[in-house]
Amino acid sequence: LHILVLHGPNLNMLGTREPGHYGNQTLAEINASLVDLGQSLSVEVTAFQSNHEGALIDRIHQAACDGIDGIVINPAAYTHTSIALRDALLAVSLPFIEVHLSNVHRRESFRHRSMLVDAAIGVIAGFGPSSYLLALRGLNEFLRLQNK
Ligand code: DQA
Repeated sequence: LHILVLHGPNLNMLGTREPGHYGNQTLAEINASLVDLGQSLSVEVTAFQSNHEGALIDRIHQAACDGIDGIVINPAAYTHTSIALRDALLAVSLPFIEVHLSNVHRRESFRHRSMLVDAAIGVIAGFGPSSYLLALRGLNEFLRLQNK
């Protein structure tokens, strides 16, 4: 199995960005722990971060040609705004899990709406960096049940 982990805007700033919401781990540390967990699950993990909506969309399109089996995505603020990201995920019809470090539902009301979530397998929010690890486990199990 090969899973793509996508990180949206401002997540390159993890470690110093609003630690009360997002914790102290850097994106590099989170990606390393995802690769480690992937190894123990026999899943290849490829991670990509961009601050640009179009670059994320291009990477999603590329995933379909690259033999990616599923996507873990933290769309960050694009969660709440991006019909284009939603359409890209639907266009490649790859199963995906939406992830948030913070519990978006106990924050500002504009964070309660997601443009993606009703197209997702599921959503994990509020566990800090562990949200990503839980999503990787969940997507792995989902894909194995599909005999991927
Ligand atoms: C976030 C939550 C979003 O509302 C916010 O815009 C982010 C990060 C999270 O991981 O908690 O940038 O996706």
